[in-house]
Amino acid sequence: MVVRHLDAGYRVQQAEWWRGAVLYQVYPRSFADSDGDGIGDLPGLLERIDHVAALGVDGIWLCPVYVSPQRDFGYDVADHCAIDPSFGSLEDFDRVLDAAHARGLKVLIDLVGGHTSDQHPWFDTSRRSASSPTADWYVWADPAPDGTPPNNWLSVFGGSAWSWEPRRRQYFLHHFLPSQPTLNLQHPACLDALLDVARFWLDRGVDGFRLDAIDFLTHDPRLRSNPAVPPANGQVPAKLFALQRHDHDMIQPASMQVLRRIRALLDEYPGTVSLGEVSSQDGAFDRIAAYTGAPDLLHMAYTLRPLRHGFDRPTLQALLRDAIATCSRGWPCWSFSNHDVERAATRWAPHRTEQGGQADTRFTRLLLALLLSLPGSACLYQGEELGLPEAQLQEDEIRDPFGITYWPEFKGRDGSRTPMPWQEGARFAGFTAPWAYPWLPVPASHRALSVDGQERDPASTLRFTRALLALRRAEPALRHGTASVLDLPAPLFGFERRAEGQVVTLVFNLSEDAVALPPAMLAGKAGLGGFGAAEGRLPAFGFALLVPEMAREREPA
Ligand code: BGC
Repeated sequence: MVVRHLDAGYRVQQAEWWRGAVLYQVYPRSFADSDGDGIGDLPGLLERIDHVAALGVDGIWLCPVYVSPQRDFGYDVADHCAIDPSFGSLEDFDRVLDAAHARGLKVLIDLVGGHTSDQHPWFDTSRRSASSPTADWYVWADPAPDGTPPNNWLSVFGGSAWSWEPRRRQYFLHHFLPSQPTLNLQHPACLDALLDVARFWLDRGVDGFRLDAIDFLTHDPRLRSNPAVPPANGQVPAKLFALQRHDHDMIQPASMQVLRRIRALLDEYPGTVSLGEVSSQDGAFDRIAAYTGAPDLLHMAYTLRPLRHGFDRPTLQALLRDAIATCSRGWPCWSFSNHDVERAATRWAPHRTEQGGQADTRFTRLLLALLLSLPGSACLYQGEELGLPEAQLQEDEIRDPFGITYWPEFKGRDGSRTPMPWQEGARFAGFTAPWAYPWLPVPASHRALSVDGQERDPASTLRFTRALLALRRAEPALRHGTASVLDLPAPLFGFERRAEGQVVTLVFNLSEDAVALPPAMLAGKAGLGGFGAAEGRLPAFGFALLVPEMAREREPA
């Protein structure tokens, strides 16, 4: 194994860099394709890395590039210590890492610890016999006397969470696809093996891990069935997972010990961090606090829970309260869009239609301003800086197994995974070679929002995002300040952030009409970075960042 030597000082000096940091999430399959096979890859990311650096983010969260049969597009790992040939090689990975570091960008990679691919050698031996060396590295259970699965647990992606293995005459557990068997992390050798994987990448120089699906890391050792939850409206939901209270298959106290082991390993590599993914089951913010609330646990965590709700004033107020409470006990990270959900610009669009509707630029920018000013850290998903809406795909274009199962009730996650549009005038918007076909289509609405066009336009969403990120870097209050809710009349919504004696007031107009701001709020204040309230008003979906006049006088001309 090649161990690359790192300058320890690089990390130690910036020990808590992650508090308030913004990570740019790269979904490599759809970022940039260098070899014309229609699939994004690491050399493609390398070619485009200056786009990421120019944004002014602190680092990259790179989704899985491990060897994988790609049934779940990389979240089904078949070899944790090698790069899938469709993405490149370990040398390509090192080049990306070096290029990122040279630009001051940290690199977090996914550590998919809860399960592997069924093609993984660990599973291959485990499934062969109950006396193999990895026999207990997965979750095996005898059938019920009538041959049915050991309990009622359901898979997130549909059907029973158990599949039959004739060679062992036992069922194995899988919370997602049947080809993603669940690891038994309560088995010491299995957890050690996972930690060895983490060490392999830390030795290579990564700055930490996004930990996949941490609510699923352990389960009830007695394998008790979950209680039923009657559907709220009396109608059976398309996704049966919602018909159970997940008391026993997920969110178990034993996961804390797994997280502690991961943290202890990270602490051997100063400056490295963990970002946990928390499910949207009830109590998600309490779990973020619990998972990140002690120095021997995770650094930060995000949940998709707020994404499940609409975008209205009461929801935002609740979100802010949750954020503030979580910050007092742990450290949240915000993710409005990612590879698992419909893009926020469409999901929360004020005029959303069955087809998703057109993204409203004013609204899209309000979302960006909120994402980048909430207390905590944030993830910016590729294309979010361009204001991309969700891509609307046809049934035969869907590749996500989750969407294939549930179409058309749920169209899967491909609409947020379509290729990055780089060049407006190029075939496939410059994502891949002109003779190739991308693995997912590039929608016409995205072409018009391509990077090159937005680079040229000083009033573009890309330029706007860079300006916000620059402010966040410059203002400690915006980056890691405390937050307090402002009591404002509807349709306004706002909060204050404070750090190092500075205070920034943020106010958002959640309506499509211009609104006058309360004069008391404006007295003695000026707009920060040009984000003020002209004539004391906010336009439709407008927002302002206000600082005391004195503070602005200190700004360089
Ligand atoms: C990842 C998903 C993936 C699932 C199963 C998640 O949390 O973000 O993309 O399908 O884990 O690995």
